[in-house]
Amino acid sequence: MSNQLRIGIIGTGVMGSDHAHNLARGVRGASLAAIADAAVDRADALAAELGGNIATYSDGKEMIASGDVDAVIIAAPDPFHAELTGACLDAGLPVLCEKPLAPTAAEAVDVVAKQEALGRDLLTVGFMRRFDPGYRALKARLAAGADGALLMTHSVHRNVEAYPGQDSSATITNSAVHEIDVLPWLSGHDIIEVEWAAGRASSLIAERHDPQLLLMRDDAGVLHTVELQVHARYGYDVRCELVCETASVELPSVPALVEADEVIVSKDLARSAAYPADWRPRFAAAYRAELAAWVEASLAGRLPEGAATARDALRTTVVAETLVRSMNAGGARLGVPSLDDVMSGKA
Ligand SMILES: NC(=O)c1ccc[n+]([C@@H]2O[C@H](COP(=O)([O-])OP(=O)(O)OC[C@H]3O[C@@H](n4cnc5c(N)ncnc54)[C@H](O)[C@@H]3O)[C@@H](O)[C@H]2O)c1
Repeated sequence: MSNQLRIGIIGTGVMGSDHAHNLARGVRGASLAAIADAAVDRADALAAELGGNIATYSDGKEMIASGDVDAVIIAAPDPFHAELTGACLDAGLPVLCEKPLAPTAAEAVDVVAKQEALGRDLLTVGFMRRFDPGYRALKARLAAGADGALLMTHSVHRNVEAYPGQDSSATITNSAVHEIDVLPWLSGHDIIEVEWAAGRASSLIAERHDPQLLLMRDDAGVLHTVELQVHARYGYDVRCELVCETASVELPSVPALVEADEVIVSKDLARSAAYPADWRPRFAAAYRAELAAWVEASLAGRLPEGAATARDALRTTVVAETLVRSMNAGGARLGVPSLDDVMSGKA
């Protein structure tokens, strides 16, 4: 591999386009060489918009096998992640797969087994909150230990509008996976027990129960509450509070304001702040930092420090799957199977 990584992107929807624009704005050591989308006119339109010499494909696997790319970003929908990631591993290419690694543990296990059989690490999963300055500050503060032990965490994850055509389980396997990944990363402890709950549902969305409440207990006994509302209408809103022995530590309430150069206005007997419409402005710094770290690490033949590995992503999928089982069992409290049991087929 030269000192310039030729990157191919699969999927040119919201996330694929975002990664492509970030690359086009300039990431040291990387250039966008190819784009694939099952709707090839989308790939063609994005390539034309970005300009330069970008090959387009209707089939991601063809792009992977083309020899045109040294590394691949997968931003196709969740059900295609495992197959496309497997193809990258077979071709020996570093791959940044958007979250989740797979919607089910069975699919994720096959990819993890393939990665581990390779003997060199090629797979990073795009849980970008690990690169968000706010979450990083929380982790650093927790690690410093000045607030005593972590006792509990409370997270809120609200979207303006639900993706159409998805059911209640997608709230967990597609949205809550961010918290399921980032909370153990913050605390350093695995989630071992989960419970799903829901009360009155919004009348504004029929396809899924919204909002939902997840309770997760880790192996240090810390209880994590996560409220998910995927059709909250008012704005994209992510919150996280760490309850420690001598302090409560929170993410800034609307951190997107910092990047967007907005202010909080108190006027006419009201106080107001703008919310982003989706995750892109809120986590813009995280996406850029994740991409830069992945490019640098791929050129050096390693994984980016602190990013989600294949096993991290498998654990997240296993916890999510256990929460879906809890939901289907009317909110039963369930133990999370160990990764060894999952990998050996015992669980
Ligand atoms: N990290 C994050 O914060 C974040 C945020 C949103 C979405 N995501 C993830 O990114 C992925 C893409 O989400 P999105 O919102 O961009 O979706 P999207 O629906 O906007 O775009 C998906 C694109 O993939 C194309 N496509 C579909 N099947 C394909 C295939 N087999 N091969 C190649 N292209 C295919 C579609 O034509 C479409 O252009 C999902 O897995 C999602 O979970 C991550």
